[in-house]
Amino acid sequence: MHDMSKLKVYYFSPTGGTRRVARRLAERLGALMGAEVEYHPYTLPQERESIPAFCADDIVLWATPVYAGRIPNKTLDYVRQALTHSNTNAIALVTFGNRAYDNALAELVGLMQEGGMRPVGAAAMVTRHAFSNTLGAGRPNEEDFAALDRFAEQVAEKIRSGQPTLLNIPGEAHPEKYYTPLKTNNAPAGFLKAKPTCDSSRCTRCGRCLEVCPMGSIANNDGMPTFDGICIKCQACRLSCPTEAIAFSDEEYLSHVAMIERTFAAPKQPEFYI
Ligand SMILES: Cc1cc2nc3c(=O)[nH]c(=O)nc-3n(C[C@H](O)[C@H](O)[C@H](O)COP(=O)(O)O)c2cc1C
Ligand code: SF4
Ligand code: SF4
Repeated sequence: MHDMSKLKVYYFSPTGGTRRVARRLAERLGALMGAEVEYHPYTLPQERESIPAFCADDIVLWATPVYAGRIPNKTLDYVRQALTHSNTNAIALVTFGNRAYDNALAELVGLMQEGGMRPVGAAAMVTRHAFSNTLGAGRPNEEDFAALDRFAEQVAEKIRSGQPTLLNIPGEAHPEKYYTPLKTNNAPAGFLKAKPTCDSSRCTRCGRCLEVCPMGSIANNDGMPTFDGICIKCQACRLSCPTEAIAFSDEEYLSHVAMIERTFAAPKQPEFYI
């Protein structure tokens, strides 16, 4: 009897889209490979306290949303440190909100290669854009999931065959910059310092938003949130609030959201590399 290999699934998912896609791919792949599936979210600060260690017969599925065309900046060190192990099979998955994934997938696969892993497949899936109710709404849809299932079959076959792997991912593995968000007038939108606000007349002090911040930046002010620390604009707090008490009112941010909703309305397709 030989040991069953493990499929280890790592995902950063402040608003749940990446988690959903990673789980679907992992379920299919786990079943096809006869592998036990382990889920490891690294969304919250306490989930990033220790760096994972992989062994040679693990299969690693690493999933991240695209932020400004790349791997989210505040998670990059953790991802780089985690993605090291000689010859471990690895699958790269990025989710994006129907604008573009730019360099994110090349960056993720590049980190895998530099860490000595063996990237066997890469996918970019369209998900709801956390900034918007319309961009990527209803994605992934049935067609997207069917395409993801075909990708799972191809990945399983590739791992089984052990054939050499060379993925040809568009974009740069070492991009110099992030995507510059623009406003409706095409000038750069400067909202790096923007933070959410809480409308105390709507807040029921349910405490939900206090648990979800990936940066640990929400303090408890007598049951209501205060936003003191770094904000990466992930929207987890806003979208977790049952009474819509949390909002971003920064004009530069809102103008950027209006621009992308107008410019990137046409549905994009998922892309797969094998
Ligand atoms: C700060 C931020 C930056 C983003 N930048 C991009 C981008 O450059 N291109 C894109 O298509 N979507 C972008 N998105 C949309 C996310 O990729 C999309 O909402 C993703 O599914 C979020 O993952 P989650 O639901 O797991 O949190 C961005 C979202 C956020 C919050
Ligand atoms: S405060 Fe900023 S970083 Fe924290 S959950 Fe809200 S949007 Fe995300
Ligand atoms: S989730 Fe909304 S209602 Fe609940 S404490 Fe946070 S702001 Fe208040």
